[in-house]
Amino acid sequence: MTTATAIPGKHALVTGGGSGVGRAIALALAGADIDVTICGRREAELAKVAGESDRIFGISADVTDEAAMAALYETAEAARGPFDIVVANAGMAGSTPAHKTTLADWQRTLDVNLTGAFLTVKPALAGMATRKAGRIVFIASTAGLKGYAYVAPYVAAKHGVVGLMRALAAETAKSGVTVNAVCPGFVETDMLEESIQRIIEKTGRSAGEARTSLASTNPQGRFIQPQEVAAAVLWLCSDAAQSITGQAISISGGETW
Ligand SMILES: NC(=O)c1ccc[n+]([C@@H]2O[C@H](COP(=O)([O-])OP(=O)(O)OC[C@H]3O[C@@H](n4cnc5c(N)ncnc54)[C@H](OP(=O)(O)O)[C@@H]3O)[C@@H](O)[C@H]2O)c1
Repeated sequence: MTTATAIPGKHALVTGGGSGVGRAIALALAGADIDVTICGRREAELAKVAGESDRIFGISADVTDEAAMAALYETAEAARGPFDIVVANAGMAGSTPAHKTTLADWQRTLDVNLTGAFLTVKPALAGMATRKAGRIVFIASTAGLKGYAYVAPYVAAKHGVVGLMRALAAETAKSGVTVNAVCPGFVETDMLEESIQRIIEKTGRSAGEARTSLASTNPQGRFIQPQEVAAAVLWLCSDAAQSITGQAISISGGETW
C-alpha cells in the first residue's frame, strides 16, 4: 500500500539492497516515498528487506550479468516506471598480498565492483538524458581515493568506479542528470565482519584487536554506520543537490579528502 505523500513516478534501483549499506539506502529512499527496486543474488535477503517497506521490491539479479540486468530493467520499469535514481552499490572484497593474487580473484573483484557498476547504470543513461533528469550514485570507497595494502584488486576497481563516475558526469552535465560517488571508510556491515574474520585467521589477533586496528584508520576512531552513507545518498538524490555532479564524497571521519 502506498502513502498519500508519494511522489508519482519516482523509482530507484539499488543494487546489493539485500544487506548492509544497500539495505540502509533502500530504506532511506522508501522513507522519502520513493519506490525502490533492490537486487542481489540471494532472494531470501531481498525478501527480508522488501518485507520492511511496502515501497521496496526485490528482483534477484547478478550485476556482472548484462542479460540479467537488462531483464531486471524491463521487469522493474514495466511495473513502476523508468528509474529516476540508480545507486550502484553491490560490491565485494577479498584480501591477499598482490603477489599472491590469482588472475581469477583479480578478475572477479573487477567484474563485480567495476564492470557490475557499469552494467548497473548503462541501461539508465539514454532514458535519463531524454527525460533531462536523473540521479546516479556509485558507492565507491576510500579505496577509490587512496591505496591500502593487501586489497590491490579492490583498490583498483574502486579507483575505476571513481573514474567511471567522473566520465559519466562529464558526459551528462548538460542533460539534467547528476552522477556522483560516495566513498565510505569502514562501515559496520557483513563486509566489515568478513575483514575482521580474515585478520583473526591470518594474524591470530583477537576480534577486539582486529576491530580496534580497522577503526583506527578513521581519524574519528570509529566505524561508520550504513545510515550515514544512506543520508548522503538521499541528499545527492534531492533537488537541493542539482549542482553537485562529478564528486567523490568521502564519508570517512576525515581519513581522505
Ligand atoms: N563495509 C565497508 O566497510 C565498506 C566501505 C567502503 C565501501 N563499501 C562498499 O559498500 C557497498 C556495500 O557493501 P556492504 O558493506 O553493505 O557489504 P555487504 O553487506 O556484503 O553488501 C554487499 C551487497 O552486494 C551484493 N552483491 C555482491 N555481489 C553481487 C553480484 N555479483 N550481483 C548482485 N549483487 C551482488 C550482495 O548481495 P548478494 O550476496 O545477495 O548478491 C550484498 O547485498 C560495496 O560496494 C562496498 O564495496 C563498504
